[in-house]
Amino acid sequence: PKAIFIDKDGGQYEADIPVGQSLMEGAVDNMIDGILGECGGVMSCATCHCYVAKEWEDKLPPASEREEDMLDMAIEPQDNSRLSCQIEMTDELDGITVYLPRSQF
Ligand code: FES
Repeated sequence: PKAIFIDKDGGQYEADIPVGQSLMEGAVDNMIDGILGECGGVMSCATCHCYVAKEWEDKLPPASEREEDMLDMAIEPQDNSRLSCQIEMTDELDGITVYLPRSQF
């Protein structure tokens, strides 16, 4: 399944991400600027912050308390903010679209 990343300038990048991998891993593997994933996916860096497109928000399991706490430390969090390391790719998420923040630090 693929994920679509849209940067702050409207640039659009597609990444094929195997089921079971996180969006963060997929973005890093595809060298998409804007997702850093410095902690490797253990919810301690918030540099994998992204904004989930409205139509996909409901399709994701809700954020854990730990993820919410970490999102408070992200730059410019919004209602649709998520940590991309906590979004696991599934076949149902084929085409999921997320927006990249202006900055991760
Ligand atoms: Fe560090 Fe997601 S990769 S919180």
